[in-house]
Amino acid sequence: MASTYLLLSLLMFFISFGCSCVPEQNPTPDPLKAHRSRIREKTRFKGFYWLEHGLERSIMRNIRKEEREEPPLRTERVVNVDSYGAIGDGITDDTEAFAKAWNEACSSSFPQAVLLVPEDRKYLLRPIAFNGACVSHITVLIKGTLIASSNRSLWDDGNVRHWILFDGVRNLVVKGGGTISGNGQIWWRNSCKINKTLPCTGAPTAMTFSSCRDLKVENLRFKDSQKAHVSFEGCTNVAVSKLLISAPGNSPNTDGIHVAETKNMIITECVIRTGDDCISIVSGSRNVKGMNIVCGPGHGISIGSLGANNTVASVRTW
Ligand SMILES: *[C@@H]1O[C@H](CO)[C@@H](O)[C@H](O)[C@H]1NC(C)=O
Ligand SMILES: *[C@@H]1O[C@H](CO)[C@@H](O)[C@H](O)[C@H]1NC(C)=O
Ligand SMILES: *[C@@H]1O[C@H](CO)[C@@H](O)[C@H](O)[C@H]1NC(C)=O
Repeated sequence: MASTYLLLSLLMFFISFGCSCVPEQNPTPDPLKAHRSRIREKTRFKGFYWLEHGLERSIMRNIRKEEREEPPLRTERVVNVDSYGAIGDGITDDTEAFAKAWNEACSSSFPQAVLLVPEDRKYLLRPIAFNGACVSHITVLIKGTLIASSNRSLWDDGNVRHWILFDGVRNLVVKGGGTISGNGQIWWRNSCKINKTLPCTGAPTAMTFSSCRDLKVENLRFKDSQKAHVSFEGCTNVAVSKLLISAPGNSPNTDGIHVAETKNMIITECVIRTGDDCISIVSGSRNVKGMNIVCGPGHGISIGSLGANNTVASVRTW
């Protein structure tokens, strides 16, 4: 009994972050009081604004550098989505081409395969799953923009939870300086949080990593997701860095990074400005570290559902 309990209590979070959240602007009726409070906020957050903008500039530099870099060509099989029929005009549905290109990269016998999404194009995608296990190590190099279809009926088949899903892939790197746009406006308008007369139906997470191992996600922009922007579920050994995540402050449930049942994860140098949590961590996650994270105007970093099912969490911040 005691050992069962101990096992269940093996749930640890080490969260260290340079996060300060931009304060919400509550309108105060008394103008003098409002003015004083503004001054207090300015003083309190002045240092933080410098940190925030310095960090943002450094991330932008990295993203631009990555955009310019040519993909390495020697020991790698480079699979360009355009060679599989992708058009990249933002209107044509490129999902089939991406699925074919992924199959090619995933089954390649080269030690490294690169799935290349060229720059300066917009690829319109329906819900799509990139399934492992793959033969080679895979780098998904997103230089251009991925944009979600705005046709909500495409999610009618019962799985409304995902737009782009990586499932069961080992040794995966996703990077490239490109943009993943959830095109979420139509979902927000139809959210029961925004329009109270509507039923609550859920919405897709822009990019989900499920049961992935040895995973790196870096140098990308995520914007206007339908719901959460990036989610890690049941993953092990994950490094996330240099992500710029943005959505309007009033967009519903647009968490930046969601973490569930994930072990050994480090999140560094991210700027997250969304309508909901910057980072939400829920039960079953262990050894999750965060550093140099700028967040706001959302709800900051939340650690939810702790203590459910008799688990115990330890949270350390410094
Ligand atoms: C939206 O998707 C549904 C389901 O695939 C399809 O029947 C419908 O024609 C699409 N609507 C538009 C405007 O493309
Ligand atoms: C809320 O949804 C209802 C039902 O679809 C619609 O008639 C109404 O116009 C919506 N309200 C707003 C503010 O969008
Ligand atoms: C609690 O345990 C049940 C049964 O094992 C499971 O279905 C549920 O997801 C767990 N809840 C959490 C928050 O882990």
